[in-house]
Amino acid sequence: MTDEPEPPAPRLVSLDDGRGMAVRSAGSGIPVVLLHGFPLDHAMWRRQWALVAPGGRLAGVARLLVPDFVGFGASPGEPAASIAAMAEDVATLLRRESIDSAVICGLSMGGYVCQHLAAAHRGLLRAAVLVDTKLEGDTPEARAAREDLAARVGRVGTRIAAEAMVPKLLSRGPGAALDDPSSGSPGRAAVEQDLRRTIEGTAVATITTALAALADRPDMTAAAATFDVPTLLVVGADDEITPPACLESAARTIPRSELAVLRGCGHMTPLEDPRAFNAVLARFVEHLPSRR
Ligand code: MLT
Repeated sequence: MTDEPEPPAPRLVSLDDGRGMAVRSAGSGIPVVLLHGFPLDHAMWRRQWALVAPGGRLAGVARLLVPDFVGFGASPGEPAASIAAMAEDVATLLRRESIDSAVICGLSMGGYVCQHLAAAHRGLLRAAVLVDTKLEGDTPEARAAREDLAARVGRVGTRIAAEAMVPKLLSRGPGAALDDPSSGSPGRAAVEQDLRRTIEGTAVATITTALAALADRPDMTAAAATFDVPTLLVVGADDEITPPACLESAARTIPRSELAVLRGCGHMTPLEDPRAFNAVLARFVEHLPSRR
């Protein structure tokens, strides 16, 4: 795939307490905020810029904003200590950008943040897109595994996090979109290398703090049952981290939701099958009800 636009350069937006959030933005129209997963950064959305580039399906319809959570990617400073605090950072970012309401789209950890925004700042959401994520909190086993990973990252370094996570992020099934050039994917080796580089380049303190935040996050099922904005749920059919059952259950819980299961994708649907993901996202944004 060679027609991929370069991501825009980041701007550093100051948050209330002097920390900064790097944000990349392009396009014009409905703000659509793309929140990255753990332990990644803006680069996982690199194949969505084509949506707002000239000739893209959302050109003139949407403005994409892609931040790095504090401590990740190009955002310097201490990472937020909880998913709720990460949501407050996004709310502050939107205020700083004079955005009253936006489509908030988050993958996995970004999806947890989106749920907290929906619960705490309902008016900020024009719509929600929850990608490869879940409503439930961690089981005791999952919490213990995060503690173990944090301890190993502290001892050995971020290479351990990359080794633990990269194999689980992508579909390994026959028919994986990554192995099919018509999906728009650049191929498995390139995607794996990029993911490894991002994870290894993330600060140890960011990874360990975020692991604790992920482990402590509450179950959002009861809150999600009261969400009242259009909600698109997307999951890779081969997602090992948040399997389709998680999103099927979310679809039964969230009142105005619709579910898209993308074949041949694991946990990284926007990267693994950008063509299919972008089509589903574009259709959702194009058909949003007009604002009351
Ligand atoms: C992510 O992709 O953000 C993480 O897998 C989230 C998690 O571990 O719960």
